[in-house]
Order: sequence, then structure tokens, then C-alpha cells
Amino acid sequence: PLIRREDYRPFDWLVPEIRLDFTLGLERTLVVATLKVERNPNGEPASEIRLNGDGLTPLDVTVDGHASNSWRMEGSDLLVDLPGDAHEIRFATEIAPVANSQLMGLYASNGMLCTQCEAEGFRRITFFPDRPDVLSTYTVRMEGPKDAFPVLLSNGNRIAAGGGEDGTHWAEWHDPWPKPSYLFALVAGDLVARKDRFTTMSGREVDLAIWVRAEDLDRTGHAMESLIKSMKWDEQVFGREYDLDQFNIVAVGDFNMGAMENKGLNVFNTKYVLADPETATDGDYDGIEGVIAHEYFHNWSGNRVTCRDWFQLSLKEGFTVLRDQLFSQDMQGEAVKRIEDVRLLRSVQFPEDSGPLAHPIRPDSFREIGNFYTSTVYNKGAEVIRMMRTMAGPERFREGTDLYFGRHDGEAATCEDFIRAMEDGAGLDLAQFRLWYSQAGTPKVEVSLAHEGEAATLTLRQTVPVTPGQPDKQPMPIPLRLALLDRETGRHNGEQLIVLDKPEQVHRFEGFAAKPVLSVNRGFSAPVAIERVIDSDDLVFLAKNDDDAFARYEAMQELIVGHLVAVVEGGLDERVQDAARSSIAEVMRVIVTDAALDDSMRGELMMLPGQTYIAEQLTVADPGAIHAAREALKGWLAKSLEMELVALHERASGISSGMDRAARGARKVKTQALVFLAAGNPELAERMAAAQYDAADTMTDRQGALMVLAGLAGPQRTHKLIDFYNRFQGDALVIDKWFSLQAGSLHPHVIEHVHALAQHPDFNIKNPNRVRSLYMAFTGTPLGFHAADGEGYRMIADLILALDPINASTAARFVPPLGRWRRIEPGRAALMRGELERIAAHADLSRDTFEQVTRSLG
Ligand code: ARG
Ligand code: ZN
Repeated sequence: PLIRREDYRPFDWLVPEIRLDFTLGLERTLVVATLKVERNPNGEPASEIRLNGDGLTPLDVTVDGHASNSWRMEGSDLLVDLPGDAHEIRFATEIAPVANSQLMGLYASNGMLCTQCEAEGFRRITFFPDRPDVLSTYTVRMEGPKDAFPVLLSNGNRIAAGGGEDGTHWAEWHDPWPKPSYLFALVAGDLVARKDRFTTMSGREVDLAIWVRAEDLDRTGHAMESLIKSMKWDEQVFGREYDLDQFNIVAVGDFNMGAMENKGLNVFNTKYVLADPETATDGDYDGIEGVIAHEYFHNWSGNRVTCRDWFQLSLKEGFTVLRDQLFSQDMQGEAVKRIEDVRLLRSVQFPEDSGPLAHPIRPDSFREIGNFYTSTVYNKGAEVIRMMRTMAGPERFREGTDLYFGRHDGEAATCEDFIRAMEDGAGLDLAQFRLWYSQAGTPKVEVSLAHEGEAATLTLRQTVPVTPGQPDKQPMPIPLRLALLDRETGRHNGEQLIVLDKPEQVHRFEGFAAKPVLSVNRGFSAPVAIERVIDSDDLVFLAKNDDDAFARYEAMQELIVGHLVAVVEGGLDERVQDAARSSIAEVMRVIVTDAALDDSMRGELMMLPGQTYIAEQLTVADPGAIHAAREALKGWLAKSLEMELVALHERASGISSGMDRAARGARKVKTQALVFLAAGNPELAERMAAAQYDAADTMTDRQGALMVLAGLAGPQRTHKLIDFYNRFQGDALVIDKWFSLQAGSLHPHVIEHVHALAQHPDFNIKNPNRVRSLYMAFTGTPLGFHAADGEGYRMIADLILALDPINASTAARFVPPLGRWRRIEPGRAALMRGELERIAAHADLSRDTFEQVTRSLG
């Protein structure tokens, strides 16, 4: 059934307290639940309570201590008759963790037991009103064999523990903070902890622990440092303090997502915990820092203030992503982090917003909420709140968030509550701005600058594109930071913030004897697509001179995208193409050699726009043609700048050890230089990459070299792939890299490689990290996934069908790449659509995959 936002009603009952008693076993776990329920004064008077279940059978139902017959099942829900205003309901359920391949609810991973309840996994453990607006205090007792489960964890504080007879033991946990069921967690296993302490700003002593398998303990230092930095930062920047005596993190190797913010007991994918320089890249280090922060920040934006219903998901996710982005900017430098965030937004969220799965950051309906943990809800959601911050300024924004947290602490709130707190606390008028929550689609802003006499005239025009179910759109407030640069000196008289809130606006600027160069959407102040009328000379000027790092990067991207789009659209004279390539090479030379530029930023400026972002600029895209044009440009740049690139690689090789900013920047530009050289002089690139691989003392250097080799045909490809495998065999996270480097490569035989890797003894369809490392990487390949005969599409459709019964939420995540068919040239589009239809024809599809496939077919 389709669930609609407008149908929200409060639940008829409150459940102020729940007690859970677990008798743990991998094969079989018994759960006894005791619920105190009271009539909700804000609900309808009801004579029964509906408790959600998923695949459960109720055992021994009692009401107020008496065995009860007045209950029935409706579908998978348990309905219990309740004549009075307050009752105690008790029942048992039995579950089989080892058989739980969905990894939702209570499941087994590597001999340990753990849970994932968001969004609707709790109902796979016990019957409960499994919705985020029912808040309860939890007491959890668990008991099990001490040898298999020496460590027993749940939310809150451990209040008692003891040994039982015949090798069993138990622990009891109490969480004083009322919470919805999606924040429940339990972990039992043979784990060891890295421990530390944190003293909060008001003097609370918090015991910190990061729990992992014994062999992983020495790879937890970075995660612990990141946690401590996050706790400090949230106090300093948002005034948020931790509120329990313990904070536990557990790393698990089988996990559907990145991590989960369960109250006081965050559960993480090992990928976002474990790191040392030999096995994790600089990117992995940043990912860990960002995700640890993200989950920690949820303690306030998510847990203390939670969501009323799942349509409000962006209330916690958009806001928490913004918080983790601001944190990472403070830790690593603002400019590079901003560029990285925008690159992600444009390569994942923009395509989502322009395709069949487009939805507003606050969706209006869904069948399966698991399908709405999207880049739109997360990343566009963060951009929307960032715009409020840009319009208010950081101080007033903080007044807004203080008011929000203060006003709604302990509540299940809505996006509307957040907006109102921003209006009242930050002093913004957001009447029209609310459209950002209800309208899908990336707004397009046309920009042109004219000059006459002493005045420059700026014309801005916006349109919000049609998206599924939303034919008519209203203009939205779009905050644009801009500056007018003097074309002699590159200087400007300060930045302005213009809010474009009408279909068209004209702004006059006096005092410009000569036409200035416009720098617009500086810092990417609004998540829009800018279409500006601008000479390529002006783009070159901005790419060399703009004092806003993002705008400088943007000018470079625009220069390149403009050229690639022109090549793909065809009809260009060779000489015109060469002239464009030469001017790009000219700017690239400045970027590669500019001694004033730090290497981290240089690495960003050197990166060519990605395949999907280029495809976004075209109404229908030919992935083969885009790839060819992009490779041709890379080759041209490599040939024009071979000496400079080799010199850059050499200089950077001299400083690439260590974890400081200079060393990290050096590693980034080294691999970036190889990426170009591979397209212009493959033999040279092969030699240099093999040497970088052999000399590598970090995974960053080693992976970078291997990535380049994986796309080349020479003998070093095989040598180094074998070496890498042998070196890291048994280290799951590194073997994931080995799979994805091959599956995501530009090698012409990538399809055969993926077929072979699927047969490799280390491939395991039940492990989401391994599945993603092989197949998600593959969906990005122009020569593999987009092979003109449709074999890549078939492979992904086969995967979806094989994975759907095992792990539906992971299977459904492979549908969107096929859903892009409308924007792809007709030959491939028909093949993609054919695969979607083949999937749709299967009976017994999961709700997850069914919804994604039907939406994609439109
Ligand atoms: N709340 C988690 C996070 O953002 C993600 C949980 C995703 N769960 C899911 N079933 N999709 O950190
Ligand atoms: Zn989150």
C-alpha cells in the first residue's frame, strides 16, 4: 500500500515503558516483551492496540498478568483488546538470527549478534507500535552463553550484571531517555574495546568504548580520536552536550548501510571504524571522521529530538549531514571539503532529481521507507538547511538551532517545527522558502551580465523543472553569493548575497568603468544548476584568479564541461575543438605548476568532471561518446603537459609520507597525475604507477597506483593485482578494494573481469560490502555497465533478482542505475527498460525492489 504524509494521525496509545528480556542464541533467541500502555489523550478512543510485527508469532500473550485470548493477528500485526485506559501487555517471540540474511532486526555476523532497527526492523524482533512518534524508556536484560557472548551491550547505562549457572551470564541495561523503537540496539559477542574518557562541558565523565574483534583493535585509534573531536566540536559550535555515562560504538562486518545512531550504542559498518595507513586511504580516514561525527551528532539531531513520522526523515538526516559537513570543514579545511560535498551532490543527487525517482526532501508518499534514505533526503536536505544558515549568518543560525533543540527536546518533531524555530530563533521569513521542502527537481538559474557606461546589469532567471507527480512549480528563494571581479587585477569590493525569489530579477551595479567578471554561486551557496552566458576567456580568468576556491573550481569544471558537451553533440570543426583543448591545457598548466596552490586544492582543480555529471548536461546522453570525449581530453592534456605532470609526480613523491595536510595533498596529486598520463602515454604511466605501487608506504599511494594499472593493458596490471591480493588476503575491507578497483576500471574487458570475480571464492552475495564493492563500482563504468549490447545491464538485473530474496534493501539500491534509461540514447535506453521489465515480471519481489522498479518504469 502507498503510505501518504497527509494521512498522519497520532497513535491511539502511549507506551511509556518497555522491558525486554532476551535469551540469546545464534540459532534461536527468545524475546519476552513487557509493555506499559496508556491511552493517548491526543488519539482516538480505541478498544484495541495494534502492534506491528514482521514474520513473528506471538507466544503466551498476557494482559495485566492474566493469560489472554482477546488478541488476533491481522496480516503480520498483533491486535490486542484493551478495555481500560492503562494496561500491561506481555508476550514472547522467538527469532532465528543466523537465518536473518536481510540484516534488519536481530541478526548474526561473524558469530556475534547485533541489531539494525531503523527504519522498521524492530518489528522483526518483537511486536510493537514501530513508528518514531511512540517514545518509551527501555530496560533490557539479556542472558546467554559467556563463551560465545562475553560482551553484552544495549542502549543507555549498564545497571547490573552477573553470572548464571552452566556457563551463562547476563547484563541489564537501562536507557533513561525515552526513545522510539528504531533507536533500540543490542550487541552480544566476543569483542574487545579501545577505551577512553571524555569530560563534557558541564563536567560529566563519559566512558567511551569502541568494540571490535581482537585482531582489529590496533586499527581503532583514528575512530576514537574522531569521536572525541566530535564531542568537543558539538559543544563548542552547537552547544550540545552528551547525556549518558557511557558511549559505545560497535563495528560489524555485515551491515546494510554506513552506520546507525542507536542511543548510546552506535553500530557501525567496519568500513567506517577501522583504519591504519597501510590498509586505509586518506579518503577512508575522512570517511571515518565524518561518519563517526554524523552518528554522534544524531544524539541531539535525531535522538533527543526525533522525527514524528518517516516523511520527516530529512529533519534529522539533512540537518545531521550539514552538521557533519561543517565539522569536517573545520577539521580539514573548508574549501576542499566543500568541493567534495558538491561533487557528491552533483554526481548522485542531481541525477536522482532529474530522473524517475525524483522526490522532495520531504516526500509525500512511499511504499517502503527504506527506499527514501536517498541523496536527496540526506545531501539536498543538508543544502536546504545550509541555505538558511547562509541567509541568517552563523550567529543567528545558532540562535535558531538553540531554539529548535530547546523547544522540541524529548519530542518527535516535523520539518515544519524546524522551519518555525528558524523563523523565530534566526529571524528569517521562510514562508516561500518552505517550497524547498515540497518541490522536487534541481532549479535552473540563467545568469547574464551586461555592461553599459558605468553600470553592470545582472539578469537572473529561474525555472524549477517538472518532476514525476509535480507538473507545476513555483519560483523558490535562491540565495546567491556573488562578486564582480576587476578584469585587470582580479580583485573585487566585497561579496554580496542576492536572494533570487522571483522568476526573473534584474540588479544594477554602479561604478564599473570596464565590464567586470561575474563570480556567482560562490561557495555553492544554492543547490542549483547555473547556466550563465560567459565567454570562455572569462572562465579561464576565473579558473586562474577567483578568490573563492569553489568558484575557481567551478570555472574550471564549466570550461571543461562546455567543451565536452560540444564534442559529444558533434558538428564541431577539428580546429575549434583543438583551440578549446589548448585553452583548457593552458589553465591546467597554471594549476599543475602554481607554487602558491596547496596540493589538496590542486588535486581538486585537476579532477575532470565525472561521467554522470556530464551526462546531466545533455537531454539524452550517449555514455560511449561521453567516455570517448573525456578520454580524448585527458590524452590531450597528458600530451601537452607530460613534463609538468611527471615533475609534479616526482616532487610529490618526495613528500608523500605522513598524515599531515601536505603529505595528504601530495598523495592526491600524484595519483591525479598518473590518471592523466595513463590516457596520453600508457607505457610511461604503467612504469610510474608500478613504481608508485612498489614504493607505497600508505594505502592511498598503493590504491591510487593500482587503480591506474587496473585500467591499463600492460603486464603490470596482473602483477600488481596478484601482489595486492596476496598481501591483504583475509583483510575484508582491503579485499573489497581489490574487487572494486577491478570492477570499476576503464579496462575494455571489465565485464569479463566482473563475471570472473563473481565466481571468486572471496565473493559472498550475503555480505553487503562485498556486493557493493563488486557491483556498485561496476555501475559507474562506461564500457562495462553501459556496454552497447546491454550485457552490463543484464548483469545488474541478474544481481537484483538473485539478491532480492536475500537482502531486499541492498538489492533495491541497484535499481536506480537502470532507472536512468529516459536520459540515455534510444538503443541503450530500450535495453535498460527491458531489464527493468524483466525484473518487474517476477512474482514475489520485495516491497523495496518492487517500488523502485515500478517508479523507474514510470
Ligand atoms: N540513520 C542512519 C544514518 O543516517 C542510517 C540508517 C539507514 N537505515 C536504513 N534502513 N536505510 O546514519
Ligand atoms: Zn544519519
